[in-house]
Amino acid sequence: MIGSFNFSVLPKIIFGKGKSAELPKLIKGYGDNIILVTGKESFQNNPEGEKIVASLKDNGITVNPVIVTGEPSPAIVDKTARFFREKEINCVVAIGGGSVIDAGKAISAMIPDEGVVEDYLEGRGDKTHSGKKIPFIAVPTTAGTGSETTKNAVLSRVGPEGFKASLRHDNFVPEIALVDPMLTLTCPPDITAASGMDCFTQLVESYISTEASPFTDALAQEGLKAIKKSLVTSYEDGTDVDARTGMSFAAMVSGICLANAGLGIVHGFASPMGARFNIPHGVICGTLMGAANEVNVKRLRATPGCEVDLIKYARLGLLFTGKKEGASKNYYADAFIVYLNNLVELFKLPKLAQYGIANDHIYDILKRADCKNNPVRLSPADMKEIFMKRYK
Ligand SMILES: [Fe+2]
Repeated sequence: MIGSFNFSVLPKIIFGKGKSAELPKLIKGYGDNIILVTGKESFQNNPEGEKIVASLKDNGITVNPVIVTGEPSPAIVDKTARFFREKEINCVVAIGGGSVIDAGKAISAMIPDEGVVEDYLEGRGDKTHSGKKIPFIAVPTTAGTGSETTKNAVLSRVGPEGFKASLRHDNFVPEIALVDPMLTLTCPPDITAASGMDCFTQLVESYISTEASPFTDALAQEGLKAIKKSLVTSYEDGTDVDARTGMSFAAMVSGICLANAGLGIVHGFASPMGARFNIPHGVICGTLMGAANEVNVKRLRATPGCEVDLIKYARLGLLFTGKKEGASKNYYADAFIVYLNNLVELFKLPKLAQYGIANDHIYDILKRADCKNNPVRLSPADMKEIFMKRYK
């Protein structure tokens, strides 16, 4: 039986090798004075990036550059929005990884507003944003967060009083997601692995989410097939265009899935850890993925009425490890966990203690971690088990 579900708006998606050449024409649909948000190294080291900027200028587009380094903070969003508020900006374009796209998304939302972004962040402020914004085009250069298809921008202030919180509105879905896998070819292996594990986690968590629907399941399964074909290859040979294309597709789809089905326990850990410690989001996801799914499966088996979720885990095992004659669904679910743990080893994903997490931080992390839309409620002991498996 198909139950009730909602599905949010999508950007206009333009996907494929070489599609970034269409950017000037797409921008011209809005005007010719833009803010171009990029990262520092990821963009400057990317030969495709130079070509894009030259093509914008050749087409008479005025480019106002904004560089975002590290995590996107409320401070950079407010400073940029304030600076451009009185100017006639027709479009915000973000070319970069998830942080750059989130920064661009938030800047496009805050230019028409008079306030400061923290007032609108979930769990931080008490104002509701009108949804009015400058048109926004997202052009990813990594395959990870899927921010090009989501309606939220995650902003952070990292430190002892740090936070990670979302600016969210249905209107904040980019007008256009321009996804050109050629822009990801220069992404180094460690970032390819970490961002790929973020995307993998997002697909698995939305697939087993309490809010999953047949609509998101269909998309998640296609994204997961692309992960199976492309994740390891894109790590081992970054120049493999087919693998890069598969990962760009998987990341884009993961954004659609998470926006409509939500996420689970790994992302429930990622927010409080990323707010307090300087750990890349994809590293948190990747390093915890095997441990979290292992504890999930154990808890699902011990909880009555979780048959559907265990069947989904068995399907994941079948997809990632192949058919074995006469094997049970328990076999496949366990095989999926082994597959994940092998990936963690292959990608050399570090243990969490390497990032300065001391014993006396653990209680606080566990207290703040939440299950989100995890298919089963986890006990404090379950949460601790997940964390400690990847601590030291
Ligand atoms: Fe994520």
